[in-house]
Amino acid sequence: MKKVKIKLGSNSYEAHIDSGILSQTGRKLKKAGFVDKVVIITNPVVKGLYGEALEQSLTPEGFTVTTLQVPDGEEQKSLETAGRLYHELANCHAERTTPILALGGGVIGDLAGFVAATYLRGVPLIQIPTTLLAQVDSSIGGKVAVDHGQLKNKIGAFYQPRLVITDIDTLKTLDNKTLSDGLAEVIKYGVIWDKGFLTYLEKNIDRIKSLNEEALEEIIFRSAEIKAEVVAKDEKDLNLRAILNYGHTVGHAIESASDFRVGHGEAVAIGMIAAARISNKMGILSENELLRLESLIKQAGLPTKLPELKVEELISAMQHDKKVLMGKIRFILPEVLGKVFITDEVNLSLIEQVLLD
Ligand SMILES: NC(=O)c1ccc[n+]([C@@H]2O[C@H](COP(=O)([O-])OP(=O)(O)OC[C@H]3O[C@@H](n4cnc5c(N)ncnc54)[C@H](O)[C@@H]3O)[C@@H](O)[C@H]2O)c1
Ligand SMILES: [Zn+2]
Repeated sequence: MKKVKIKLGSNSYEAHIDSGILSQTGRKLKKAGFVDKVVIITNPVVKGLYGEALEQSLTPEGFTVTTLQVPDGEEQKSLETAGRLYHELANCHAERTTPILALGGGVIGDLAGFVAATYLRGVPLIQIPTTLLAQVDSSIGGKVAVDHGQLKNKIGAFYQPRLVITDIDTLKTLDNKTLSDGLAEVIKYGVIWDKGFLTYLEKNIDRIKSLNEEALEEIIFRSAEIKAEVVAKDEKDLNLRAILNYGHTVGHAIESASDFRVGHGEAVAIGMIAAARISNKMGILSENELLRLESLIKQAGLPTKLPELKVEELISAMQHDKKVLMGKIRFILPEVLGKVFITDEVNLSLIEQVLLD
């Protein structure tokens, strides 16, 4: 088992990463001092796959388990669904000490996390992420949120979990698209923080795609470690944490201009290349490193080129994004592979030129 420590003073916690670790959840919760009642929040897909294994690890340790389900899908990240869950938590007499176990992908993690942060002014949260994206990204760092109309992820809190239990085996049932969504974020960590990790990804991309356990454990561990390092330096997203948005300026614009037909991972992959090309055209990132990144993204099964979208629409979407400060579009650009900088001084015509390429 690998452990990542997320060091946030009295809010510190660990992510435990291993195959088959789901079956140890009961023991781990007992060791962490929890007793009696636990509530699992999940969806029917994940419950069908892993609900029973989780319950079977909890009951022998003396826990009484209540499982609450929400339908699958991003639309469930809403105040309405949170409201329904508050009622159900009250009905099953969940108390201040009752932990909520978020079993699922980022949608469940964000929603159950939001509910845990607000129900009775906060009950303990345990993240049990089951998608690659959730394992390397959303389960770590304590951002919990629901969507509200146009406000995506904007009604929320910083609320750290007590423990993250990451079972690599759960990735075996993911479809390719959901897996590559996560891979885009994994590549992102290499570009923003660690060139050595990018080299590892280049060497092992085929093993990763074929779900080799050792390779998966390594990339999840290193990604979680990098996110933990960044978050530990800037828990409340005031400065450094912005680098985690590398690829997301153009990425979010592609998602919204395509009415979310282009998935998050694909959009971020194109966004990472766009930012790398901008840096290259500004004379900063070398051609060689740009080509290396393009090749890795392609090998990961992700796109590097824009789908049929109008550049004006993308620019307009970028100007309406939350990363825009005083009308300027904020970019995270690679200086070299492994190191990025934040700038809002990118020329609009350069952005257009790169997107039209
Ligand atoms: N809090 C954060 O810091 C943060 C960071 C990044 C993304 N997010 C959020 O995460 C969400 C996206 O998360 P996601 O990509 O995990 O999507 P998701 O939670 O919708 O999961 C994708 C699909 O996979 C299914 N699924 C989950 N685990 C499975 C498994 N092991 N086997 C088979 N199917 C499985 C789900 O039911 C769903 O249909 C977005 O709402 C995004 O805003 C949050
Ligand atoms: Zn992302």
